[in-house]
Amino acid sequence: MILEAADVHKRFDTPGGPIDVLRGVDLAVAAGETVAVVGESGSGKSTLLSLLAGLDAPSRGAVRIEGRDLAALGESELAALRGRSMGIVFQQFHLMGGLTALENVSLPLELQDVGGAESRARDALAQVGLADRATHLPSRLSGGECQRVALARALVVEPALLLADEPSGSLDEKTGDAVNALLFDLVARRSTALVLVTHSDRLSAACDRRLRLTGGRLVEGDAAC
Ligand SMILES: Nc1ncnc2c1ncn2[C@@H]1O[C@H](COP(=O)(O)OP(=O)(O)O)[C@@H](O)[C@H]1O
Ligand SMILES: [Mg+2]
Repeated sequence: MILEAADVHKRFDTPGGPIDVLRGVDLAVAAGETVAVVGESGSGKSTLLSLLAGLDAPSRGAVRIEGRDLAALGESELAALRGRSMGIVFQQFHLMGGLTALENVSLPLELQDVGGAESRARDALAQVGLADRATHLPSRLSGGECQRVALARALVVEPALLLADEPSGSLDEKTGDAVNALLFDLVARRSTALVLVTHSDRLSAACDRRLRLTGGRLVEGDAAC
């Protein structure tokens, strides 16, 4: 399994008292598998994705990526594993505003000291149709273009796993559709495993499996409840 979550709980302590957002999530994703996670707003989808990415730690339970328990890794090992094996795409693109499109895409390679970073980043930009935007800053790109840069940045390291949190959520429908089509095309071509948080029934139907986050747990199927 590329990704395993076992009995994952997450409690937030708030001024109003503790809230238990996740109450025993189990999930196993095989190499190359695509999994949609749906659920009402506030059900904990983004919280789950940040735990799967190792950006936050579960209150209880374990997350394993490529068989390695994230809780057993130090900060630098975790960063290395994330950089090597995971791509992450958020609703807001989180590009570095002071860097060009090309610099944003080559950054994950530079951080890993991988050779040929610039030419690989150029290839990745070309694959998302932005070869001619390489020198543009994010402020000079449209929302759809920014998300395509973010996709190129997530996939330039050829990760085994892509985590995507409503990647078209901040885009208009037509632009979002185009970004989603590109995302599916890229993961299919590379056999990248995908965990996709989405509101869209149509998008979830395009995944191998559909899971719903409800009551702090993941359940099979995407029927409304
Ligand atoms: N850092 C935090 N501190 C306190 N509460 C949080 C925190 N992050 C998320 N929450 C709460 O957890 C719940 C789930 O949030 P979230 O994971 O963003 O849901 P979703 O992505 O499904 O809309 C919400 O009630 C939210 O307010
Ligand atoms: Mg969310």
